[in-house]
Order: sequence, then structure tokens, then C-alpha cells
Amino acid sequence: MPIIVVVGGQWGDEGKGRIVDLLARKAKVVARYSAGNNAGHTIVNDRGEFKLHVVPAGIFYPEKTCVIGNGVAVDPEVLLGEIENLEAKGVSTSKLVLSDRAQVIMPWHKRIDQLDEAMRGEAAIGTTGKGVGPCFVDKVARRGIRIADLLRAEDLRPRVESTLAYQNKVITGVYGGEPIAFEDCFQAYLEFGRRLHQYVGDVQAIVLDAHHRGEYVLLEGAQGSLLDLDHGTYPYVTSSVPSSSSAGAALGVGIGPTDIQRVVGVFKSYSTRVGNGPFPTELFDDVANTLRDHGKEYGRGEYGTTTGRPRRIGWLDAVSARYSVRFNGLAAVALTRLDVLDQMPTIKICTHYELDGEIIETLPARESVLNAVKPIYEELPGWLAPTTEVRNFDDLPPQAQAFIKRVEQLLGCPVDLISVGPSREQAIIVNPIF
Ligand code: GDP
Ligand code: IMO
Ligand code: MG
Repeated sequence: MPIIVVVGGQWGDEGKGRIVDLLARKAKVVARYSAGNNAGHTIVNDRGEFKLHVVPAGIFYPEKTCVIGNGVAVDPEVLLGEIENLEAKGVSTSKLVLSDRAQVIMPWHKRIDQLDEAMRGEAAIGTTGKGVGPCFVDKVARRGIRIADLLRAEDLRPRVESTLAYQNKVITGVYGGEPIAFEDCFQAYLEFGRRLHQYVGDVQAIVLDAHHRGEYVLLEGAQGSLLDLDHGTYPYVTSSVPSSSSAGAALGVGIGPTDIQRVVGVFKSYSTRVGNGPFPTELFDDVANTLRDHGKEYGRGEYGTTTGRPRRIGWLDAVSARYSVRFNGLAAVALTRLDVLDQMPTIKICTHYELDGEIIETLPARESVLNAVKPIYEELPGWLAPTTEVRNFDDLPPQAQAFIKRVEQLLGCPVDLISVGPSREQAIIVNPIF
């Protein structure tokens, strides 16, 4: 039966959590497969507003199994805090399963993330500072500590001893930072292991069993395709391998690529980016402020879910979006935050870039070129009418319908789902995704 992947199509924060929460209705298993608590996925429901960083967005359905795959970098303190917060608000985590193969974010990862950004100075990536990048570096360097290691003192002790000895040399020698004390770190992580033990299990088996029983499985991506280590705006990207392209989904829960039936890309009706790096359609005028502060009075403006940083804002960039549709092999687009455009008298879409008289129709690899390109816009009339209560495509204002049709054309992919607000029911299902 179908395994469906939901990926971010832009630079993250497209509304993946909100879309997964909606699609999870039909799924038996919902899995996070990549990244770590650099992600922040917002879900608004009758219990309030939740910002999930590691726990999958399916957790609000008590009967679903929610799994954290081997591809995720887990900060045990953050995960335990999230579990506590959910339980305190009456959300059961009894069906949450954590892969014993997932990498653990250790104190040195967080320290190095921050020291490294400081050392880069002007060229800083603008990371979330959660230690996710350095954790994946240790994974690839085969120095990482996995959830399985936290469960027994005799496994954990030698691993922390050897990796910490190495990392303290890096912290003090390369960065001039303060070393980390072994015993406190070892004891704290042993305790985290003791508390997480009840959640640890074989995620691959859970996903494949559900798949073979004919049940739906939903794989929840984090971040966005343009932050992908391989295909994104390198070096201003995140560190998972590859974090957001759909092949990473198979890797991150331990299934084959042919087990995946469809990949759904979530795109905002405009663009945002947090952190540094090229952003061809970025705006610095009142339009940016208007879009950023829409819903700010309810704490719902464009400010980072994980770090609170103001998000950079721009018009929809069909060049990078089309590129993302292609390399993810997207079968469907979920278009979010359409309602944020309700207030705009005119709406722009970047159809291509220009540089020195040359037309550019796909994302250039060279950073200097991407920084220099001129976005060329098509202007569409706005609809200046509320869409938040609309539930059928035909009931949208004609200008909104025309905007969506143009997005479909430019991206080369059908818009099967439209989101007109943060709550589960504020959606227009054009074609069922499951
Ligand atoms: P994610 O990281 O992709 O899950 O996205 P975030 O949660 O970081 O950011 C998306 C923000 O947009 C959250 O505040 C959501 O509640 C909100 N949101 C999602 N879809 C819609 C929508 O259609 N309209 C509005 N107004 N807000 C939305
Ligand atoms: P969700 O899942 C938006 C960005 C950071 C920075 C770059 C590298 O909520 O969409 P990192 O801490 O990963 O080393 O930072 O990646 N970034 C995100 N931006 N949404 C996210 O996740 C992000 N996760 C990482 O801002 O530019
Ligand atoms: Mg987010």
C-alpha cells in the first residue's frame, strides 16, 4: 500500500506539519525520517497550538503509530521535553517509537555549532544552533553516538570517552572554547537513555509491516528542498544527507525507494527563508512587512518556529520551485498560506531569472551567479477577499483560481491541496492525495 512522502519544496517552514496533520487521518504510521530539532512544525488543533521539533505531526491521533527514524538526529533532552509537554496537554505518546539507530545530538555538537558559526563571521550559515550539523558530521566520521548506545553504561562509556576526547581537542584547539567534562555528560546521557528506553524500537520493521499489511504510511519531511545538502543553495544549506529530497526518506526509515508511491511537495504561496544565503525574490519593502506580520497578533507571523528569527520574505519563485518539483519527483503540490495573499492588490510570481541579458530557467549552482540574477516577474491581480472559510476550489475568487492555475503551469505539477488557514479543516482538497 502507499507510502507517501511529504517534503518541503522551498527553504523550510512551508507548513509541512500542518499538511501532515491533515493527511495523517488516513495513515496508520507517521514517521519523521530526517534532520533534528532544527525543524519546527506547527499544528493548530482544538487543544491549542503545538510546535513539534522531533515528534511526528501524527501524534494528535491516538491510534496512529508515530516513529522517529534512523535518519533523525535526536537531542534526548528536547525529545523528552516535547513528550512531557504533550502528555501535560493530554496528548498520549504511548504509540511513539524511536529508532535505536538514530544519532544522538551530544553537548559538543551544540557547542561546536555555535563556535563554528562565530568563527565563520560574515560567512556564517545562520544555523539554528541546535547541534544538528556537527551531529551529522560525527555520523559520517563514524564517531557518532546512537540511541542504542544510551541504553547501557558499558556501551555508552567507551563511546563518550573516545569521542569527547577528540571533540575537546577540537573545541579547545580549533575554536579556543571551553572543554566539556566527561562525567557530567556521561551521567546525564545515561539518564536520558533510561528515560527514553520505553520508546525505543525497530522502526524499519514497523514501517515495513504496516506497508505489507496494506496500511498507509506517511513520511514527514523536515526543512525544505532548497536547503538540501546536495541540491540546495550550498553552502547555505542544512546538513542531512540528503535532508529533504525524497530518496532521503527511504534511507531515513530503512525502506527501499520503490516502496514510495508518491511524493507531495509543500509550497507556500510566496517564499520565505531563515538563515543566510541567496534568495533571488527577497523583498525589503512594505510588501515584505505586510506578509511577515500577517497574523502576528496571534503569534502567527513569519517568525522562526525554532529560533524566533524574523523570516526573510519574497514572492513565489517558480524557478527554484520547478527545480524542486523535478529533483524530488513530485506528483502533487500542497499550496499553503493562500489566505495570507488575500490582502494583496497584486501578486507577483518570478517566472525566470535574467543575468547579463541571458534568460535563466533553472537554479544556478554558483553562489555568485545566484546572488546576481535578476528575478523577472509576472504580475497577477489579487482577489482582496477572504479565503479562510472556502472549502471548494470553485468557491475561490476567480483571481485566486487563476493564481493557482498559473502556479500549476509554472511548476509543472498539479496543486492537489490548498491550505487557507493553520487549522486542520481550513483546506481545499482538489484531488485526494491518498
Ligand atoms: P513547517 O516547518 O513546514 O511545518 O512550517 P512551520 O510550522 O514552521 O511554519 C508554518 C506556519 O504557517 C505555522 O505558523 C502554521 O501554523 C502556519 N500555517 C500553515 N498553513 C497555513 C495556512 O494555510 N494559512 C495560514 N495563515 N497559516 C498557515
Ligand atoms: P522546518 O522543518 C527553516 C535552516 C537554518 C539555516 C540552515 C542550516 O521547520 O521547515 P542547521 O541548523 O540545519 O544547520 O541550519 O538551515 N533550517 C531551516 N529553515 N525551516 C527548517 O525546518 C530549518 N531547518 C534548518 O535556518 O539557514
Ligand atoms: Mg518550521
